[in-house]
Amino acid sequence: MSSPDHSGERPYAGARSDNGGETLVSSPERSLLRPTPGGMREIEWTGAAGPFRLLLSPTVFAPTSTSRLVAEAMEIPPGATVLDVGCGSGVLSFVAARKGAGRVVGCDAAPEAVADSRRNAERLGLSDRTEFRLGNLLEPVRDVKAQVVIGDVSGIPDRLAAASDWFPGGYAGGPTGSEIPVAMVETLGECLDREGVMYLPTGTIQAENRVLAAARRVFGQNNMDEIVTRELPLPTILAKSQALAQLVAEGLVNLRRRGSRLLWRITVWRCRRT
Ligand SMILES: C[S@@+](CC[C@H](N)C(=O)[O-])C[C@H]1O[C@@H](n2cnc3c(N)ncnc32)[C@H](O)[C@@H]1O
Repeated sequence: MSSPDHSGERPYAGARSDNGGETLVSSPERSLLRPTPGGMREIEWTGAAGPFRLLLSPTVFAPTSTSRLVAEAMEIPPGATVLDVGCGSGVLSFVAARKGAGRVVGCDAAPEAVADSRRNAERLGLSDRTEFRLGNLLEPVRDVKAQVVIGDVSGIPDRLAAASDWFPGGYAGGPTGSEIPVAMVETLGECLDREGVMYLPTGTIQAENRVLAAARRVFGQNNMDEIVTRELPLPTILAKSQALAQLVAEGLVNLRRRGSRLLWRITVWRCRRT
């Protein structure tokens, strides 16, 4: 899913902090090494298959706790072909390559994300095994049949995305945060091989039941395994937002209060095609 930094709830160091100020922070997922000319950010990925460094344009989504959970959950058969839908900086493509994929094709609707992914692949010496294409969902990769699909496409409701600065380039998850992931699942088609698996993150900060209903229609309930689930604090800036109040009133998100914090839950599913 499209997701903010689920632990500290900031997508990257230098993002707006809860108190509205600018702050340089690091998270367990990645730490800011240095801002570079032209507004580029250099971060260090410290999740699975790391550490490695990534360069990100100002508008490109930075890896988060969701990225980390998906990266940990991913099992890559040696030599497998992997599709990374909504690749952002390319981080999960690189994790897949480092975990033994033979070929990784990433795609994203944001031109800057595709450009960053290509540049990062070169910097990491992974251009021989990875390629990145521009376009909507699976449209640019219809010719690929993968054994693993990474389905970490945007899944944060547009209103919440606008209330934060997590998606500076746009491309959030749709009105309820389910529209983009549902469209991805429903249009998977032949891109996922028989016996192949899709890793699908969902969260209670989106209309999760709609995403899960789509996944059950496509894969069948018995072919969906919950790999990892984690509860995370919602950042104050969002907890106090009008956008969140509306989504709660509409019954679209499902949060739990613990003391002064609101908690939401993320789950990574492994969906098997039979
Ligand atoms: C939450 S980010 C995840 C990026 C990356 N997987 C990571 O872990 O950092 C979701 C990505 O989906 C992309 N995206 C949103 N809508 C899309 C669409 N319709 N087709 C393709 N990519 C899309 C966004 O541009 C963004 O890069």
